[in-house]
Amino acid sequence: MIVLGIESSCDETAAAVVEDGRRILSSVVSSQIVIHRPYGGVVPELASRQHLKVIVPVISEALQRAGVDLPDVDAIAVTQGPGLVGSLLVGVGVAKGLAYATGKPLVAVNHLEGHILAAFLEDSPPSFPAIALVVSGGHTNLYYVKDYGDITLVGRTRDDAAGEAFDKVAKFLDLGYPGGVVIDELARSGNPKAITFPRSYLEKDSLDFSFSGIKTAVVNFVRRYLDTTQDDGNGIAVGAPSLGNQLPVQIADIVASFQEAVVDVLVEKTCTAAQRFEVSQVVVAGGVAANSRLRQRLQDQVASLGLPLELPRPELCTDNAAMIAAAGFYRLRQTNGDWDLDFDAISRWPDLAASS
Ligand code: KG4
Ligand code: ZN
Repeated sequence: MIVLGIESSCDETAAAVVEDGRRILSSVVSSQIVIHRPYGGVVPELASRQHLKVIVPVISEALQRAGVDLPDVDAIAVTQGPGLVGSLLVGVGVAKGLAYATGKPLVAVNHLEGHILAAFLEDSPPSFPAIALVVSGGHTNLYYVKDYGDITLVGRTRDDAAGEAFDKVAKFLDLGYPGGVVIDELARSGNPKAITFPRSYLEKDSLDFSFSGIKTAVVNFVRRYLDTTQDDGNGIAVGAPSLGNQLPVQIADIVASFQEAVVDVLVEKTCTAAQRFEVSQVVVAGGVAANSRLRQRLQDQVASLGLPLELPRPELCTDNAAMIAAAGFYRLRQTNGDWDLDFDAISRWPDLAASS
């Protein structure tokens, strides 16, 4: 079965063609990084406009690269949510139009379920049951995955997502955008033990996360060394670009120490969940799963539990449409091919990854 996947939940316009939920025939991602960079974050209005501009060419290119025409496609899968509503509506609108015009089945997919199913696009697909850590700019969730579509949320962030913490710290330090990628790069030349930032493990036994404290700890650490005569008019010190001269450590040490604290918590909670639920597999996905330090630490720690780890290649960790096509394939199989056009984009999806 050939599925055309369409993804437009945030700042990437993507389309992909995937066979039988496993084999990627094409995957095209048009990034909006350049558009949002001057603002240091995603501007929703600009995001929707850019999706509108490029979505049709992106879909055409995906079909062309896969060497298939629209009539060869067996079904269309689109991200229904969660995400920015204006952005989601572009993908959902185009997908409905295509389905209506061609009579092809259309399946609405949860973006987070897509992230989990990215792991199934790798050569050695994971086995069930699994613990899946989905760690992105908007989410930091732990799931117990019993089977396709049988997914239970067992832990979540109570405040910032891990990717959000990376982005906010990078913005505060004026390091550039997108923050996670910049910090990953810069941290390679820093000492992760230079500063001991707090690790928030919450209550004993909790599988939830909290990353706002570590972000504040970085800000407080840096502010102590700022020239307080330069303030933002509200008595808040600014001036991060010239920090390097005044700090007792390098900026690279600060970001390496910050990254280490975030990674420590992500790795420990994931391993605890894997042991508690006695799973046979650990899966990690979402944009932050592209982080080199997190990947290295997970590989070591999960191996020490004697469990296999599925870490999709970085381009399958960040937003893409191949994962949406894969999720659509399994969802359609579950619903025995039932589908309809009567659904809306959902910006905030209730707790669970799966819509079932
Ligand atoms: O999954 P994703 O592409 O979009 C969302 O659904 O949020 O994740 C984007 C997030 C951003 O916060 C970005 O800074 C982070 O993933 N990210 C990284 C890295 N690459 C992307 N964070 C740390 N290290 C990276 N290498
Ligand atoms: Zn995502």
